[in-house]
Amino acid sequence: MAKKHILVVPGDGIGQEVTAVGKKVLDRIAAKYNHEFTYDEALIGHVAIEATGNPLPDETLEKMKNSDAVLFGAVGHPKYDNDPTAKVRPEQGLLKMRKELGLYANLRPIKLFDELLSASSIKPEILKGSDILFFRELTGDIYFGEKGRKNNGDTAYDVAEYSRYEVQRIGRKAFEAARTRNKKLVSVDKANVLESSRLWREEIQKLALEYLDVEVEYQFVDATAMILIKDPKRFDVVVTANLFGDILTDEASQIAGSMGMLASASIGDGTGVYEPIHGSAHDITGMGLANPMASVLSAALLLDISFGLKEESNAVINAVDQVLKKGFRTKDIADANTPKDMILGTDAIGEEILKMI
Ligand code: IPM
Ligand code: MN
Repeated sequence: MAKKHILVVPGDGIGQEVTAVGKKVLDRIAAKYNHEFTYDEALIGHVAIEATGNPLPDETLEKMKNSDAVLFGAVGHPKYDNDPTAKVRPEQGLLKMRKELGLYANLRPIKLFDELLSASSIKPEILKGSDILFFRELTGDIYFGEKGRKNNGDTAYDVAEYSRYEVQRIGRKAFEAARTRNKKLVSVDKANVLESSRLWREEIQKLALEYLDVEVEYQFVDATAMILIKDPKRFDVVVTANLFGDILTDEASQIAGSMGMLASASIGDGTGVYEPIHGSAHDITGMGLANPMASVLSAALLLDISFGLKEESNAVINAVDQVLKKGFRTKDIADANTPKDMILGTDAIGEEILKMI
């Protein structure tokens, strides 16, 4: 029996709706496998700004540090998107959390459920069998380098910076994962142009000498963007920098049919944070339409990675698979052939998932 304390941080928009389902799934697992999970909630993002003026209140950060894992929703609000002058922004909360918790490795598994082959805009024969694990570096790069304005504010800059140490620690995680999979690693950079990418490549090449059983391929990010769509089966494990990883994983989400299916794990020095890769989606917030599967699958990653509960984690993934096999869909993964009565809302499909656990 495991005794664990989980902090639920739904954040903004559909984060609230989908995280509620993810939490129910954790609860069901605890009941079924006789574990004791306790929960607390905390604010981040726009809702935290509204309540406290701060996108990551100290109280939230403290609670995160004192939890065994964090189930996270999303941050963002349209009111900031078209206001580049806003000084306080929901995303600052997310970035500060990543830095403060030392979450340098962001794992984004891109796995296509067979039932969703037709949900993607990519041809089924190209997709079938795709299974990619991205390691996105999460606390460095242009996201965290010096930024500012000069020339009376008429010029702006963001510095992309990596230390050897930062590349080594994410690289090592990716090599270790490749060892447990098909032993193929693609390292993505822009070493033909960027100095930070040249250092990235140097370090990955050094690591490769320690992992001779892993076959390494080096790609420039523009080529990766193309090959992902042309031949996704070519990839097993991919390791890349923060900004490239952000962009490539949104692209790769289409391999899995929908962003609504993709979970992620952010890990590093302390508490792990588990969250969908999708955003707050204010266009559908409160309508009960959001696909909760990314949150449910994030809960599965949480059980596996932070708690070491592999069987429980597989039970969750299996439940999602069964629900898809029975033909249930949310709107984002339905297609022209889906009968109307099989298209369910957030809570209803959540109930179906719970039934299958
Ligand atoms: C993500 C998001 C964030 C990022 C935003 C919300 C700051 O797009 O987690 O991928 O760019 O990292
Ligand atoms: Mn992103």
